[in-house]
Formats: sequence, C-alpha cells, structure tokens
Amino acid sequence: MTLDIRAFLFDLDGVITDTAEFHYLSWKRLCEEEGIPFTREDNDQLRGVSRRESLNRILKARAIDEATAQAWMDRKQGYYLQYLDTITPDMALPGVRDLLLEAKSLGIKRAVASASKNAKPALEKLELIDLFDAIGDGYSVVHTKPAPDLFIWTAGRLDITPTQGIVFEDAEAGIDAALKGGFWTIGLGSADVSRAHVRLPNLAGARVGDLLAKLSEPSLT
Ligand code: G6P
Ligand code: MG
Repeated sequence: MTLDIRAFLFDLDGVITDTAEFHYLSWKRLCEEEGIPFTREDNDQLRGVSRRESLNRILKARAIDEATAQAWMDRKQGYYLQYLDTITPDMALPGVRDLLLEAKSLGIKRAVASASKNAKPALEKLELIDLFDAIGDGYSVVHTKPAPDLFIWTAGRLDITPTQGIVFEDAEAGIDAALKGGFWTIGLGSADVSRAHVRLPNLAGARVGDLLAKLSEPSLT
C-alpha cells in the first residue's frame, strides 16, 4: 500500500523538548510540600494528560475541595513557569529540528498537538514556532488525550484526513488518542507506547524517507 502522508503532528512534552522533566519536578515540589507520595513511575502516568487529570491521578483516592485543587494547580503552574523561563533553542531534543526542516523541504505540513496550556510559549522559547503550520494546545478542545479530539482538531487546521497524518508521541494516552482518531503513530521513549505502529527511542538521526518506509512495511498496512 502506498501511504499518502501530508503532515506530521508532534506532541510537545517529551517529543520536541524534555519539558516532561519540568512537569515532573514541578508536581514533585508540590507533592513534597503537601506530603503526597509521588515517584517518577507515578509521573509516567501523567504524560500527555491535562493538568486537571494529572492532579486527579496524583491525588488517587484523596479528596480535596475545588478551591484547593485550583490553588494547587496554580502553584504547580508557577513552579513550571520558572522552568519554562530557562528554555533555550538548544533544548529541542536531538533530531527534532532537522526532521522539521526536512519535512518542510518535502512539502509535508507540521503541527503540534499538545495537551499543555504552555505549548506556545515553550515553542517560542525553542525558536521553533515558525516551523509549524498549526498548533493545537490545552486551550483547543475540551476532551484532551486519550480522547482523539485534539489530533482531529489539529488535522482540521492542517486540511488533512487522519490517515494522511503521522503522530509522534511519548505517552500512552497520546498513542491511544491518535489511534482512536485513525492516525499513523510513532511512539518515542521509554513509557508504554507499545501500541504505536512504529517505536523508536528518540528522533536522533530520523529521516522522512526512513520513517515512511517503516510505516509502509507489509505487516502494518
Ligand atoms: C502535556 C504533558 C503533561 C501535562 C499536560 C498539561 O500533555 O505531557 O504532563 O500535564 O501537558 O500541561 P500544562 O502545561 O497545561 O499544565
Ligand atoms: Mg508527551
């Protein structure tokens, strides 16, 4: 089967840059202050899900009132903004900038589809924002990953159908969202991305032709 790929849709945190670590450190600080156990393994469950759902997962069965929940999310966001301020263009993950430039030169559209409300400032700090044709973020849809809505919304902005798009994700929730939406998927990193069509440790050295060839393998199509 010949693929008709017209766009790449990238998650941000853990795919374009390692802000997943900043989210972890920010939640960790809040949890230490509030006496809530929180490990790196716990943090893997927060990859790709919204700020509110992250708090729900951190709290597990613990109940807090709405005002406290809001105050804790605001405090975590304050810590996160301090990290965001330290982002510089050299903090794009290996291979990302080259892959974006190659895709652009081949006429493949590029988008970000991130659950984060901090996606645009992060892309500005990375000096990558101008390489994208569309940005879906934490303000774009009500139902974030693992619902497919954000990827569908972003595909609409790109004027493509889901089968014309490849989603790059480091999160289980993100892969599930993309698969539900009918996209091709490339899973990155060490969290559970086992359901992705293709899995890679990262995008270092990634070339458009190689990625398309992997997705064209007969077992996948
Ligand atoms: C991304 C990250 C999550 C984060 C979410 C919301 O999906 O992977 O860890 O919780 O965005 O981010 P925000 O910047 O809006 O708090
Ligand atoms: Mg991510």
